[in-house]
Amino acid sequence: MAMVSASAASATSFIAFFLLLLLGTSTGQEQIPNSDVDLLEFPLNLEFLEAEFFSFAAYGTGLDSMAPNLTMGGPPPVGGRRANLSPLVRDIIAQFALQEFGHLRAIQNTVRGFPRPLLNISAESFAIVINDAFGQRLQPPFDPYANDINYLIASYIIPYVGLTGYVGANPNLQSTTAKSLVAGLLGVESGQDAVIRTLLYERALLKVVPYPFTVAEFTNRISNLRNKLGKEGVKDEGLIVERGQGAEGRVSGNVLAADQDSLSYARTPQEVLRIVYGSGKENVAGGFYPRGGNGRIARSFLPAT
Ligand SMILES: *[C@@H]1O[C@H](CO)[C@@H](O)[C@H](O)[C@H]1NC(C)=O
Ligand SMILES: *[C@@H]1O[C@H](CO)[C@@H](O)[C@H](O)[C@H]1NC(C)=O
Repeated sequence: MAMVSASAASATSFIAFFLLLLLGTSTGQEQIPNSDVDLLEFPLNLEFLEAEFFSFAAYGTGLDSMAPNLTMGGPPPVGGRRANLSPLVRDIIAQFALQEFGHLRAIQNTVRGFPRPLLNISAESFAIVINDAFGQRLQPPFDPYANDINYLIASYIIPYVGLTGYVGANPNLQSTTAKSLVAGLLGVESGQDAVIRTLLYERALLKVVPYPFTVAEFTNRISNLRNKLGKEGVKDEGLIVERGQGAEGRVSGNVLAADQDSLSYARTPQEVLRIVYGSGKENVAGGFYPRGGNGRIARSFLPAT
């Protein structure tokens, strides 16, 4: 008698366990709060820019021919070109491009996402950033697609901003789904930044011909410009810094940018937009985004159109 009821009880709990398992898998998708949706969608703006810039440079073509679904119907970018790269750098940049396709898909599979914004990745767009960084018009105008060094310097401009954005978003996320996605994106984004910085660091003291400035000076100028546009203090550092700014205040080599404890700097969406618009204002579109970014966060700062 006792045996029967014990096995009946265990059968009941067995069935209950199975039901829970079934329920768990059918409702496996965690509810993502709206604030997380916004914070996950916002970086699509940067991922689209990186995907197109890397893909054009490596392959001479972008998402529209490589992975058209990922554009979600947004307009094609302006000014992308196949870059004149050595086999090693082309190989690395091709891998970065494909990694960005994966990032776009991962975000779009987690949240609804939005169409690719209009992107201006023309040589002139980058030349304007470089002129602003130096406070003078370089002659001839800087061409990101001309060679390895120029392309790596131009690449120094982009993934790092995405990295600081992910670091900034992380503490504001609520759901496990969003946190694990952002950790995964941040890991690869910071890896890309490290590869770019290392390749540039090897060449830090070389002149960027035909200009009288070294690679290190280019990175320092670009980082200073980003600090100025972001308007929230120093969150960006070039490849060779004052000793006090290097790791533990003991080195001037600065292959990675980080704070006094060698932790990555964080930026808010506003800071990111001020930088990538080149305007220093989250409500004034421009630069790589002639019509501004897409998604609730970026659109919320822009005048209604
Ligand atoms: C791309 O979109 C088309 C049309 O909507 C669809 O048939 C196809 O399965 C999609 N491919 C991928 C890889 O999502
Ligand atoms: C792209 O940027 C360059 C430099 O600002 C500009 O001359 C060109 O008109 C822009 N193209 C578009 C479509 O916005």
